[in-house]
Amino acid sequence: PNQSEANLRSPICCIMGHVDTGKTKLLDCIRGTNVQEGEAGGITQQIGATYFPAENIRERTKELKADAKLKVPGLLVIDTPGHESFTNLRSRGSGLCDIAILVVDIMHGLKPQTIESLNLLKMRNTKFIVALNKVDRLYGWKACRNAPIVKTMKQQSKDVQHEFNRRLTDIITQFKEQGLNTELYYKNKEMGETFSIVPTSAISGEGIPDLLLLLVQWTQKTMVDKLMYRNEVQGTYLHHKEIKAAQGIKITAQGLEHAIAGTSLYVVGSHDDLEDIKESAMEDVQSLLSRIDKSGEGVCVQASTLGSLEALLEFLKSPAVSIPVSVISIGPVHKKDVMKASVMLEKKREFATILAFDVKVTPEARELADKAGVKIFIADIIYHLFDQFKAYIDNLKE
Ligand code: GTP
Ligand code: MG
Ligand code: NA
Repeated sequence: PNQSEANLRSPICCIMGHVDTGKTKLLDCIRGTNVQEGEAGGITQQIGATYFPAENIRERTKELKADAKLKVPGLLVIDTPGHESFTNLRSRGSGLCDIAILVVDIMHGLKPQTIESLNLLKMRNTKFIVALNKVDRLYGWKACRNAPIVKTMKQQSKDVQHEFNRRLTDIITQFKEQGLNTELYYKNKEMGETFSIVPTSAISGEGIPDLLLLLVQWTQKTMVDKLMYRNEVQGTYLHHKEIKAAQGIKITAQGLEHAIAGTSLYVVGSHDDLEDIKESAMEDVQSLLSRIDKSGEGVCVQASTLGSLEALLEFLKSPAVSIPVSVISIGPVHKKDVMKASVMLEKKREFATILAFDVKVTPEARELADKAGVKIFIADIIYHLFDQFKAYIDNLKE
């Protein structure tokens, strides 16, 4: 029987927090990968999902002697960006998940995007675990690779323990100021009321077993209903008897080249109204179109996915940047995009520019741009597009 506790789907866990707290590095540490150093500028600019099968979790937690307690088939973990322009992706990530990990840098405490993440989680009533990361940066820290945290703490000098407790107390106070009770997880007697803190290092792996075990135990204990397979479709995931939910699936269909990366998947059931669903499907795109400058004057903006386009528009709109946008597009820069940009040559020459994030420019588009006098700036970090455009404008003024 599918609808039973013995057949739970994998919980979806979202990693959130302020920039550079170590969200991606924590995932790298769990996966045994090195994604973070391959990211442009070490910045996460997309949502990414990783599946950890139960046997990996079992392996990583075996020192905690919790073997028999695993009932879920694994964990699906979603990494999100911490930079401020990416509120949209944090919001989407937190909207998809059953539980979250809120990463706080022990050396820095709560920061603006920690609080923003907290508010998103509160709004959706999503439970979370705090990973108090970078404990290895405490002065005099003695590394105990991948060891459980209680064992690790016992190895530390009195000075390190004192420094740890001082910072922990400060951070618990900062959470209190946000209206939340938090406590070290192994001292937490009221899980649910009081949020648990797990000290971690993404570099030497201390506390990772505790974090994984707590995630799995807590979701199994409190979310059994939510984790049982269902047959209907929810949100971005398709539940189907031939696949396990909460996993990535590859879709083959006609006309898929017109689908926009990062938008939702809708399945039309026999009782659904196709027109209603079409309308919902267009909502994401419509809300983007509403950001286009009404004057019709502005640069052209192009990005690889809906999410990164939203983030780029958010950034261009911010007061310190304030670049008007007249045309938006998703995917590679083609000749037709250059033609659209060239309309600005007559109105405002400096806006005859394409700001392209994480996309390719076809040779024909490049050729036409050179001929027509349309500027194309490409960058793999959204913030660099501003620097390039600003340098160009300053140059024009001179
Ligand atoms: P964004 O996605 O850009 O918001 O950053 P992030 O939260 O994913 O942080 P990231 O994993 O990119 O790590 C930021 C920096 O902190 C990198 O230089 C990491 O090597 C470093 N770092 C992450 N975790 C730890 C840790 O536990 N200890 C130490 N010493 N450094 C860490
Ligand atoms: Mg990251
Ligand atoms: Na980073």
